[in-house]
Amino acid sequence: MNSTIVAPSILAADFANLQSEVEMINASDADWFHIDIMDGVFVPNISFGIPVTEAISKHATKPLDVHLMIVQPEKYVEAFAKAGAAQITVHYEACTHLHRTLGQIKEAGCKAGVVLNPATPVSVLEDILTDCDLVLLMSVNPGFGGQKFIERTCEKVRKLRSMIQREGVDTLIEIDGGVNLETGKKLVEAGADALVAGSFVFSSPDPAGTIRQLKAL
Ligand code: DX5
Ligand code: ZN
Repeated sequence: MNSTIVAPSILAADFANLQSEVEMINASDADWFHIDIMDGVFVPNISFGIPVTEAISKHATKPLDVHLMIVQPEKYVEAFAKAGAAQITVHYEACTHLHRTLGQIKEAGCKAGVVLNPATPVSVLEDILTDCDLVLLMSVNPGFGGQKFIERTCEKVRKLRSMIQREGVDTLIEIDGGVNLETGKKLVEAGADALVAGSFVFSSPDPAGTIRQLKAL
């Protein structure tokens, strides 16, 4: 079995020491950089945007997993691809023409994924799953790091895993929010491939060691 994909979320990093945080992740067992883009409209918080993504990309030696928590994400797909994104995920709740937007992401040379908020059932993916390289399930309401894990997510992972098996596709299941060793273990047992972790990694006394522990789940 492959080991769990781990994507530390830069949202929890020390922004005044971004280069050393990026280098810590480069040197760790982490697989991807998770980059949270918030516009203050789709979610009640603002994070950072294209120039910061570009700056991270300059130092990062691992793929950038860009999570767009913004309205009209189709307007910014090319800009984030140019800024260094390897994969871009857009919210189902923010896309009127989801199929078109996923096509746009692939045309820009990136892997394409859909994100579902906690209240959105995985059944909405029935007719789009074969077009998704990955699906990101939110296990907190998007907008902030450090929130409590919503347990119901494990059931959604199991349902999504059986949809993926039924379709015979190799779509990855990624989970975002409240991930630690305990919730991460439950998620991996339910069928998750990739775990995003922000505060759990960056507030730990040994972030690289914490990343290694998550990877071993
Ligand atoms: C939340 C973001 C997450 C966040 C996770 O809206 O999408 O990626 O950084 O943070 P933790 O791991 O602290 O819940
Ligand atoms: Zn995220």
